[in-house]
Amino acid sequence: MRPRVLVTRQLPAPAINRLAEVCDYQVGVESGVMDRDSLLAGAREAEGLICMLTDTIDCEVIEAGTKLRVIANVAVGYNNIDVAAARARGIYVTNTPDVLTEATANLTWALILAVTRRIVEADAFTRAGKFTGWDFDMLVGGGITGKTLGVVGYGRIGRAVARRATGFGMQVLYCGRDDIAFRDDPHHNSIMLARQGQASPLSQSARLDGLAARRVSFYQLLETADIITLHVPLAAATRRLIERSAFGRMKPTSYLINTSRGPIVDEAALVGALQERRIAGAGLDVYEHEPEINAPLLEMSNVVLLPHIGSATLETRTAMAMLAVENAIDVLSGRAPRSQIRG
Ligand code: DGY
Repeated sequence: MRPRVLVTRQLPAPAINRLAEVCDYQVGVESGVMDRDSLLAGAREAEGLICMLTDTIDCEVIEAGTKLRVIANVAVGYNNIDVAAARARGIYVTNTPDVLTEATANLTWALILAVTRRIVEADAFTRAGKFTGWDFDMLVGGGITGKTLGVVGYGRIGRAVARRATGFGMQVLYCGRDDIAFRDDPHHNSIMLARQGQASPLSQSARLDGLAARRVSFYQLLETADIITLHVPLAAATRRLIERSAFGRMKPTSYLINTSRGPIVDEAALVGALQERRIAGAGLDVYEHEPEINAPLLEMSNVVLLPHIGSATLETRTAMAMLAVENAIDVLSGRAPRSQIRG
């Protein structure tokens, strides 16, 4: 008997064709999000579940899925899945790392350039027929060459964003998981301070790119960087990592960029910081209560807002879908999945 898979939302043809080679499958919806009752009903019948970041795969879904052997998320982030509950029932959980790194890093840079050089504002200005001739101080933005990029979270995407900074002539500071977890530990911070000025040990890929990034404490990064870009997964330790006091440490000329997960930023505090000019601007691809957006942000010209499109290229989305399908097939064929989340 072929294993039965619930695919919550239609996937690109190459991925669905590959799934069909091995499994029987049901597609929940052509686009958008499957409704809860249908998701529960589908999970009851399925051995494999291929889902989107917009599907909440909580204890209820996992308990309903008594035959489930694998939950394959079509995303690198997996905060939509109760991984502990799945593991407790021996269900594999997988994600789609690597294949979306470059696309997401590119979009991060699109946001950095858009917000600092006022691209969206300038486009609206031009379309509105307001461009009546070149003017010396028309739509002047902030430069990035010679400035400092602060990368919060130095995993695959954080490093890919950092690598691109050399092309723009920027210095790079970064902090990693420990620097975030121990950000209020004076011992950790004094070690970080003592290291200041020393190039930090880097990943092989960063070294090969000739990137001289410096690891600093979380607070040093906030206080020093001109552009602060977030690349941490959403977890208890990172929820509302950037809140009122964090904005208080940033330079008034700094910009905040978020292409990771919305709840890492306290959005009300961000609105306050922008209104009080405690930072210069923000570029956001994700929101605290997605898809809702804090209304004042919609009115601000120094904010660029995107609808969570970090990985949205045809090539990347196809690769993500293919990887999720391969992960599901791995498990349903009796193999360990190629990108297992270990929780
Ligand atoms: C992910 O994979 O987690 C991204 O947010 C999707 O673009």
